[in-house]
Formats: sequence, structure tokens, C-alpha cells
Amino acid sequence: MNLEVSEKCIACGACVRDCPTGALTVENGRAAVRKSDVCINCLHCVAVCPVGALAMNGVGAADCAVPQALPKPEEVKNLIRQRRSIRQFAAGDIPKAEIDDLLSVLAAAPTGCNAQTNGFLVIDSKEKMVALKTALVALLKEKFASLPEFLRGPVIACTKNPEADPFFRHAPHLLVVHAKEGAVTPTEDCVAACAYFDILMQGCGYGTTWCGFLKMIVDAVPEAIDLLGLPRGTAFYAMMFGRPDVVYPRVPPRV
Ligand SMILES: Cc1cc2nc3c(=O)[nH]c(=O)nc-3n(C[C@H](O)[C@H](O)[C@H](O)COP(=O)(O)O)c2cc1C
Repeated sequence: MNLEVSEKCIACGACVRDCPTGALTVENGRAAVRKSDVCINCLHCVAVCPVGALAMNGVGAADCAVPQALPKPEEVKNLIRQRRSIRQFAAGDIPKAEIDDLLSVLAAAPTGCNAQTNGFLVIDSKEKMVALKTALVALLKEKFASLPEFLRGPVIACTKNPEADPFFRHAPHLLVVHAKEGAVTPTEDCVAACAYFDILMQGCGYGTTWCGFLKMIVDAVPEAIDLLGLPRGTAFYAMMFGRPDVVYPRVPPRV
């Protein structure tokens, strides 16, 4: 933890009050470190300082963006109510630069103890999605005798019709959020990031669907994760995404 306090500090204590771990204090008329080993580098101190006097671990006011207007409360509520799992995707891959821009936003999703250990693995083309599905189905066929019933049906469907895609719904892309070394809440971080991705993408006009199937497959056949190039036992969750090819003219209630 490296706290720099400029002469602008007015000793108001805003940073002390907002620090979630009690790392700061006010001493001799200036913000100061109280307990350095508890800092989780969340930068709340930098964010909250009314005069921009603090730099934590090299990040100061000059490195921060200015808060922008947020969607109106009714718009946020409508997004949550109106988002739908999209299982019909328009043809065409989303360009890499567009995906990278969205992932740079997703990096702002919160993580337990601010560990920031989420990795974002993207299957970046329909061609690679088809290859992944084909490899998964081949592996599941090998393991058929030991598969749970809910996986056998889709495998049979894919055997009868190689074009079928019950796992990925013909999506052109898949995001796999995976926890890296050092995660404090690995599973929760991955699921939380997927939830943020769902809302981010749908708010920006893309289509998403949670890919619980991939998790169920890896739970049943742990070596399936090899196909993603991730170490066995890695915590992850996944979402299909692409451009939607379906419109919903109404919003049914949850019943
Ligand atoms: C954790 C989770 C896993 C899911 N896994 C799948 C999946 O593997 N395939 C799929 O088509 N839909 C999947 N869904 C989507 C749900 O079926 C869907 O959210 C639900 O039917 C409600 O529909 P809506 O999302 O359009 O409101 C999943 C949803 C969640 C939250």
C-alpha cells in the first residue's frame, strides 16, 4: 500500500469513513495510513476525496474519469424487466475490437475482496463455436454411459442431427469468465461477471444467453475443460452472445 497525500488534503476524513477495511486515518491534519496490510486497493479513498488530494498505489485524481450521466431509474428497471435470453442469433461475427471494448467495461465488475482475478476467454467466431461443440459432443459420446440423463438427450439429438446445437444455440460467440490464482470468491466472481455481462450486452443491443450447459458438462466430465484450454478444477461460468435475430413485442410477467 502506497498512499500519497498532497497539500490539497483538508483532513475532512471522507477517505477514512469510506475505506471498507479501516486502512486510513487522519494524522497531523492529513490523511495517513493506519494499517497498510488491510488495504484491498479498491481506490474508494481516491474516488471519494472531495479535493482530489490522494493517490493510492500510483493512482490519483488525474487518472480518474469524471462521472457521466447514468440511465434514468425507469430505463434501468426496463432493461432488467425486458432483457430476454436470446437463442436466435443473426449471422456474422462481432468484430474483435467491439468485443474487446465490451470486455474492457466488464473489467469494472466487482470481485470478492477486490481480487480482480477474473479471466475472460472469448470464442471469437462461429467457426470456432462449431468446432468446440463438435469436440464436446465427441467427448460426451465417449462418456455416454456415465452421463446424467439431462446430458444424454442433447447428445442423442446431436448424433441424429450433426447441425443441432442444444448447448450453444448456434451462437457465434461464447464468453467464459474464469477465476485465476488468488481469487477469494472464485465461483461468485465468475457468476457476478456473467450477470454484469448479460445486462451490459443487452443494454447495448446485443443478445446473450447463460450457458449453464457448459458448467454441467464440465461437472459431469471434468476433462471437457481441456477443450477450453483451462486447468482442471478452474471455477468458471459462461455466456453465449451475438447479435439478436428475434424481437419480443411484449413483456410477459414472471409466473
Ligand atoms: C445460471 C443460468 C444458467 C442457464 N443456462 C442456460 C443454458 O445452458 N441454455 C439456455 O438456453 N438457457 C440457459 N439459461 C437461461 C434460462 O433458461 C432463462 O434465463 C429463463 O428461462 C428465463 O428466460 P429469460 O432469460 O428470457 O428471462 C440459464 C440461466 C441461468 C440464470
